[in-house]
Amino acid sequence: MTKPLVAIRSVSKHFGEFQALGSVSLDVWPGEVMCLIGASGSGKTTLLRCVNQLTAIDSGGIWLDGELLGVREEGGRLYRLTERQIARQRLKTGMVFQRFNLFPHKTALENITEGPLQVQGRKSDEVRGEAIELLRRVGLAAKADSYPAQLSGGQQQRVAIARALAMKPMLMLFDEPTSALDPELVGEVLAVMKELAQSGMTMMVVTHELGFAREVADRVVYMDQGAIVESGTASDVLGAPREARTKAFLSAVI
Ligand SMILES: Nc1ncnc2c1ncn2[C@@H]1O[C@H](COP(=O)(O)OP(=O)(O)OP(=O)(O)O)[C@@H](O)[C@H]1O
Ligand SMILES: [Mg+2]
Repeated sequence: MTKPLVAIRSVSKHFGEFQALGSVSLDVWPGEVMCLIGASGSGKTTLLRCVNQLTAIDSGGIWLDGELLGVREEGGRLYRLTERQIARQRLKTGMVFQRFNLFPHKTALENITEGPLQVQGRKSDEVRGEAIELLRRVGLAAKADSYPAQLSGGQQQRVAIARALAMKPMLMLFDEPTSALDPELVGEVLAVMKELAQSGMTMMVVTHELGFAREVADRVVYMDQGAIVESGTASDVLGAPREARTKAFLSAVI
């Protein structure tokens, strides 16, 4: 029996009095593509941010590849890891946001090589070769020397995916990667994500693209008010939802 790559156990998160996540438990299996859907404010981004330790959880635990995130257990007590230790854990995860967070003063190629060179301290010719290969993979071999401002939104987002992949993550998190794009640019980004899914990457994808979820997701998770309401295959959750809240959400978005 393989172990989950991500094990989320009874994770809660409050912002002041407001409960953004209430005892969420979820496993993500190696190679699995999980799509997270749900209304605005249901806690999807918060959950991804907790997995990537951009947001600290209040209680519960998250394990990535068997390693407890953010804290160390010793003698029955928990100690918070240092920022440096957390940064090291974070390297196992790549994240792509709604807005492309590329460095504006660096070319596409330099955006991709930055992390491997500066953070991982790897050799520049090797890193450059890999970056060129990644640009080819996302269909942008000809744009290596372009700056973000010279690229379309879809192209920028594909560079952002290549930049995350350059760090060789074992898990990729996507938070509505296409929702800031003009409709005609959505398909090219989803195509790159689909290829990545088919290559065996483990992915958690927050998306409103139900067509993508239907085609690519191994599992669809519907969240509401900081909780998982329903999860299952895309055909179950999207095609034959059991819960009234899931039905209401789907009938509102389709
Ligand atoms: N830093 C914060 N401080 C206070 N409240 C927050 C913070 N981050 C999120 N929240 C609140 O937590 C709730 C969940 O937010 P979250 O961003 O996870 O929702 P979401 O499902 O990603 O929504 P959307 O589809 O709009 O992106 C929201 O009500 C939000 O206002
Ligand atoms: Mg969000």
